[in-house]
Amino acid sequence: MPLPELLQLAAFPDADQELLDRAYRVHRHDLAADKPAFLAKVGPDIQAIATHGGAGASAAILAACPNLQIIAVYGVGYDAIDLDLCRARGIRLTNTPDVLTGDVADLAVAMLLAQARGMVAADHWARSGDWATKGNFPLKRRVFGMRAGILGLGRIGLAVGQRLAAFDMDIAYAAQARKPVDWEYIPDPVALAARSDVLFVTLAASAATRHIVNAQVIRALGPDGIVVNVSRAANIDEAALLDALEQGALGGAALDVFDGEPVLNPRFRALPNVLLQPHIGSATGDTRRAMGQLMRDNLTAHFAGRPLLTPVI
Ligand code: 8YV
Repeated sequence: MPLPELLQLAAFPDADQELLDRAYRVHRHDLAADKPAFLAKVGPDIQAIATHGGAGASAAILAACPNLQIIAVYGVGYDAIDLDLCRARGIRLTNTPDVLTGDVADLAVAMLLAQARGMVAADHWARSGDWATKGNFPLKRRVFGMRAGILGLGRIGLAVGQRLAAFDMDIAYAAQARKPVDWEYIPDPVALAARSDVLFVTLAASAATRHIVNAQVIRALGPDGIVVNVSRAANIDEAALLDALEQGALGGAALDVFDGEPVLNPRFRALPNVLLQPHIGSATGDTRRAMGQLMRDNLTAHFAGRPLLTPVI
């Protein structure tokens, strides 16, 4: 049996790459110098695509692959893929939920702690000798007992809430429907922000959630409020966020995702009240191995005619 033809749109860790190379005839679109020419050549043969959450698969790539059967995403988010187009063409789509939930929730809580307690600046204070020359580090913000709002109570939002409960937080959440939890349900994002010291954005991104955290939500959070985003940048109006941070209308932000990442808006660099992380929510060796395995298991199941493990469509 010839190996299935697979188009790869982003890099994977070496161990995953080796296993993919063994099971598929892999075409590295991510490494191609002339991508349109490469696509025109291999596109008609392609049966599967392997990609990241951020890279997705553009309409142009899908159009160049008329025999595409399945897209396997190495990540939980699939906002960079046109689901209607996939449905219309009968293309299956899988992602890697669950295996990354704990890591992303851990990072969200760590980001709040680091932001509120000024841990990056405090490290610099100790490391630079400021402690000896300038004295004690300035006092920062208490985290336990905060009022936390969770915008989006899916797997990751729920895991964040479970962690926050151990910090004695007063938790409320917004979601499309009430969930079986004891926390207060406040579906309106502005109302949720208005009662919260910290707003965690843990929402699966889509056209409907674009800029759901807008200037009004940010104003409602206020000059002492903190936003933590571990979802997608598009869930926040980044220009409004930057304005509020510059003007002191928002207390602080801890962000793992950015418009146009990995290139950041230079306005972030000048801000003392932000904690910036390079999209590392799921970036532990254990979780990335599990994500690679699940992505491949979905592909294997598809080509063996078995049910997909974690289908989106
Ligand atoms: C990325 C993510 O997929 O799961 C997601 O949606 O954003 C991440 O886990 C990861 O960075 C792979 O590149």
